[in-house]
Amino acid sequence: MQLQPKRARRCVLSVPGSSEKMMAKAAAIEVDQVLLDLEDAVAPNAKEAARHKVVEALNTLDWCAKTRCVRINDTQTQWCHDDIIEVVMAAGHNLDTIMLTKTKSPADVQFLHLLLDQLELKLELSKRIGIECLIEDVEGLMNVEDIAASSDRLEAMTFGMGDYSASQQMHLESVGSTGDYPPDIWHYPRYKMTIACRAFGLDSVDGPYADFNDLPAMNRESKHALTLGMSGKWAIHPSQVETAQTTFSPDDKVLATARKQKAAYEQALKEGLGAINVDGVMVDAASIRMLQNTLDRADLMGL
Ligand code: COA
Ligand code: MG
Repeated sequence: MQLQPKRARRCVLSVPGSSEKMMAKAAAIEVDQVLLDLEDAVAPNAKEAARHKVVEALNTLDWCAKTRCVRINDTQTQWCHDDIIEVVMAAGHNLDTIMLTKTKSPADVQFLHLLLDQLELKLELSKRIGIECLIEDVEGLMNVEDIAASSDRLEAMTFGMGDYSASQQMHLESVGSTGDYPPDIWHYPRYKMTIACRAFGLDSVDGPYADFNDLPAMNRESKHALTLGMSGKWAIHPSQVETAQTTFSPDDKVLATARKQKAAYEQALKEGLGAINVDGVMVDAASIRMLQNTLDRADLMGL
């Protein structure tokens, strides 16, 4: 049974937790999810101050985003446990999920899960805080199936191509770039992680594209991710948000076709037919399972 709610994640906007100005700007942006970062966008000497700024932002800003996530430092660092305790103790009521960076094994997730169990009891929180994992190194990718099965708090996994490319020693220019490896250097990790996500009912999210002025490339990468079954993509700059929000929304034409095919199929079933012709396309039970994904996504997005 799914214990965590389903959420739209067409775009996840990453915002440095050390910047009050950017968090205030992000609060006013129409995006499905914001991610307030305590990890790599925050310098080591600014980490502790950033926790307080993130707490303040969660508790005082009026967020357009339905889902508010805090990205914490990984379990190998000295910051991880304090990130969890300080943020949840001070802003647990105003937080939907915690994202664990550099998840390498189920033990990393279980550490966060148990700490959340204790904090929620202490705070008498009525809602359950969800977990999201970043798969961003070779070990995490090797263990991705076990990680996907590791906690019923888990809602989503993100493939983080920046750290991943470093961990595999790929030769690339910037985070998310595709280098000289036609047709697609991200094919294998995106596919592998997405299979694990879908097998365990999780959202599969594509990581960032650092060259934020190159919107055609952002668009292309979003479409690749959508086609293979991912739920959304990160933005690291406000300019990228609309591209991702739009790409991962079923467009009007696709929705109208799906609704028409479903209605025709339901009518055909009453007449004892299992495969029919709708405007020159064969529609059968498998077609309905495919298009139901689109209809479910549209429901989630209120379309
Ligand atoms: N969230 C909210 N606001 C942002 C933003 C973000 N991620 N990125 C930029 N902005 C704001 C800027 O503050 C600026 O606001 P202003 O017009 O009121 O001054 C405006 O958007 C335009 O920004 P711009 O001048 O084009 O970029 P910049 O040089 O200020 O910032 C980066 C560029 C890369 C430093 C910034 O986008 C950033 O920090 N992104 C997030 C990085 C991150 O989270 N990394 C970790 C995950 S990969
Ligand atoms: Mg990373």
